[in-house]
Amino acid sequence: EKGGFPSFMEKEIHDQPAAVHDTLLGRSDPRGRLILDELRIDPAELKQVNKIIVLACGTAAYAGMVAKYAIENWCRIPTEVELAHEFRYRDPIVDKNTLVVSISQSGETMDTLMAVRYAREQGAKTVSICNTNGSTIPRESDAVLYTHAGPEIAVASTKAFLAQITAAYLLGLYLAQLRGNIFSGQIKDVLADLNKIPEKIQTVLDTTGPLRELARSMKDEKSVLFLGRNVGYPVALEGALKLKEIAYLHAEGFAAGELKHGPIALIDAGQPVFVVVPSPRGRDSLHSKVVSNIQEVRARGARTLVIAEEGDEAVREYAEHVVYVPETPPLLMPLLTTVPLQIFAAELAAAKGFDVDQPRNLAKSVTVE
Ligand code: F6R
Repeated sequence: EKGGFPSFMEKEIHDQPAAVHDTLLGRSDPRGRLILDELRIDPAELKQVNKIIVLACGTAAYAGMVAKYAIENWCRIPTEVELAHEFRYRDPIVDKNTLVVSISQSGETMDTLMAVRYAREQGAKTVSICNTNGSTIPRESDAVLYTHAGPEIAVASTKAFLAQITAAYLLGLYLAQLRGNIFSGQIKDVLADLNKIPEKIQTVLDTTGPLRELARSMKDEKSVLFLGRNVGYPVALEGALKLKEIAYLHAEGFAAGELKHGPIALIDAGQPVFVVVPSPRGRDSLHSKVVSNIQEVRARGARTLVIAEEGDEAVREYAEHVVYVPETPPLLMPLLTTVPLQIFAAELAAAKGFDVDQPRNLAKSVTVE
């Protein structure tokens, strides 16, 4: 059932082109209009939404962080992302014009469920982005947008993450369409770019040899850091989480702009640092800022391992190792840049001899607090 792969996680990493493809399937028409009738929330009510709160835990929360950048950009609706277990134990402000979007692969995460229940009691409208048909969170929400990643067996989430980002993007585009925030031509272009993602993920999967070799050579490392900005920031957090979970390796992700505010003190000779570099075609200052961050850590002896967009020659000079991913619009980059980090973690954990699919102390679905 592992389809010839050494672990379910490896299989699921390779399922990602299909996971994104299937999540996009049938949700827009050829003219580039979103069709999300399945949501069954009155469009008039959705037009009233003046605040979005995304609730989730772990990897699903990182998908929410990625989505925040896109949703605010397209819909101009203030969007917060909060860990469900933090949200439910404070006194959050939600009302009938708040749209609460929960993200959960299993649909059974207790903290996420309780947070959704609370929000609903306060009158918020609740949409669940979920991978498991008929599970509890979608049943208790006003609406559901399923991710079609297929069953995820490995404890560490991979294909569900990319499918969650995809579904949240569709929701964001749908809200923008309803509210007339962006031109229909622009929605059509984003959809066209999303439709090209599966093929580009495949390209990333087909070129992992040197990265796997690098991972195997690093099995005695004690700590790995990850830096990113903008949508690359949650990708850095996710890269670090994957290493903690399955390779039992200390890893931390930072917003690259935070370096000077503390974390740069951690850098000494030989410290491996992954840097997720934004597209040089995006907001220009972001790319050059991240390139300076690479220089800063390198000047202190770090080993710089860089994920960058094809054609970005500027990073080569400062990088010990570069993984190039195909060109794609800046907001869609996480759907590509996450993949090498998943592969790195899976390969490193396997090299250490660990059970990649069943890491110690973790359960696939956290149905207790
Ligand atoms: C990480 C991982 C966890 C889950 C989290 C939420 O690889 O699997 O962090 O993402 O426990 O689970 P769901 O999405 O089922 O609510």
